[in-house]
Amino acid sequence: MLQDKITQYSQEINEFTPTSAADVEQFRLRFLVSKGIVKSLFDEFKSVSPEEKRTLGKVLNDFKQLAELKFSEAQEQFAASAAKAERTADDLTLPGVGFQLGSRHPLSLVRKEIVEIFKKLGFIVAEGPEIEDDWHNFSALNFPPEHPARDMQDTFFVEKKDGNDIALRTHTSSVQVRLMEMGKPPFRAIMPGRVYRNEAISARAHCFFHQVEGLYVDEGVSFADLKQTLYHFVQELYGEGTKVRFRPSYFPFTEPSAEMDISCTICKGEGCQLCKYSGWVEILGCGMVDPNVLENCGIDSKKYTGFAFGMGIERITNLKYEIRDLRLFSENDVRFLSQFETEII
Ligand code: PHE
Repeated sequence: MLQDKITQYSQEINEFTPTSAADVEQFRLRFLVSKGIVKSLFDEFKSVSPEEKRTLGKVLNDFKQLAELKFSEAQEQFAASAAKAERTADDLTLPGVGFQLGSRHPLSLVRKEIVEIFKKLGFIVAEGPEIEDDWHNFSALNFPPEHPARDMQDTFFVEKKDGNDIALRTHTSSVQVRLMEMGKPPFRAIMPGRVYRNEAISARAHCFFHQVEGLYVDEGVSFADLKQTLYHFVQELYGEGTKVRFRPSYFPFTEPSAEMDISCTICKGEGCQLCKYSGWVEILGCGMVDPNVLENCGIDSKKYTGFAFGMGIERITNLKYEIRDLRLFSENDVRFLSQFETEII
């Protein structure tokens, strides 16, 4: 009977669980090809009685769909596992291929940190050339003609020109002048950069190093503003509770001038080798911009006042990481450099 055969084959199809692509092919050959079971049942269907046709027609069609669906599902299953097998052809137990990341130079890390602190206070970053003329490095900054800093001993001259020698800048204060010449107050900027001085290279001195200069010029800027700004900077950089003190000093381009010390970050003021047992370390020079400097840059010194400060990034870095030899910064020894933070950009 056709009905019985359909029931029996339906059961076989439902129980069919292929374990390989070959099983699927077997299934196709058994049921779906032109000499297969489905076709033969349709042939048989032609000779059943008209009453049976009415009921069996639907049953047979369902059976055909069942066989086709089972086949396409099985086919898909083995296509997916074939692709998977391809992907896992590699030995996943092998160790991965490592690649080494570089690390940031400690001076870059500290410069970035300084810049971030001042940026939050509204300071922009300004830059200037490393090869400077006498005007921007000295004269505009109120250095008298006979000032020792102009001397061959301190300055690397590039070219001697009457009255306006060209040299490698000895400090980033030259950028102050360039900035003020270019625009109108208010100015609020910090100026990081490399500077050069003709010094014998040792653990404590180098012929080039890095500075960050700061300048704030506006109406009514006072020494109190300078102190508070630098105090805030130190708390941010070295942590709450770091003490500061200002000592009177002299720079040709600021009046009054001061040097700022902080409580030693290593011994916390107790006294150690680094602070020479004083509990304090000097970190920067600062002062109110001399009115002559403002006038030299075309700024009305009766209307505007300003403060400036300048610090060596190496000094700040030494204190942060307890580095005792300046030469380490420029020797490119990876054993030194790889100890610093890696940053993935
Ligand atoms: N230019 C000074 C130096 O190189 C530092 C400084 C900058 C001091 C600004 C006062 C104000 O030592």
